[in-house]
Amino acid sequence: MAEYTFVADRTGELTLGAEEKERRYADVAAQVEACLEGEPDLLAGMATVACLLHNAFPYYYWTGFYRRVGPTRLLVGPYQGTMGCLEIDFARGVCGAAARERRTQLVPDVHAFPGHIACDSASASEIVVPVLDAAGELIAVLDVDSTVPAAFDETDQRWLERIVALLGAKEARPVVWAK
Ligand code: SME
Repeated sequence: MAEYTFVADRTGELTLGAEEKERRYADVAAQVEACLEGEPDLLAGMATVACLLHNAFPYYYWTGFYRRVGPTRLLVGPYQGTMGCLEIDFARGVCGAAARERRTQLVPDVHAFPGHIACDSASASEIVVPVLDAAGELIAVLDVDSTVPAAFDETDQRWLERIVALLGAKEARPVVWAK
């Protein structure tokens, strides 16, 4: 199975051809499945997914999760990339729309999206995928931002939805050690 480095494309190209994109997603999905098999912890799962995705795709700029921590409240983490906004209400931004509608948001131009939250002005396009538990409840969203306009397409959507589905059966549990 291929392993990707932090700078996945050594030519300096940020975009990938359709075939290469498909191939890398298949690799990453297999890696995620292999790494998370037998690990029930949701936070460990999210951290692993964020890391493997972020390092496999040169057009990924910010990659990570906003976890649902209240009826309409999302809180950042785990993620890779530049500083992200800490909290997002369901009423705001692309993440809020994905959480509210429980539907993937594919945004080719973030500046054209009403209410987009600009955590980092370098972001030009993004995709946000809802993460649902086994009962269909929203537990988080996966947010991926790119500095490349219209970086994400139906291939990203199909694979990201498949990859986050692997998290649905994990347990959100207290992460601190207690005697
Ligand atoms: N772009 C997001 C905010 C989160 S960050 O970009 C990391 C949004 O509008 O929901």
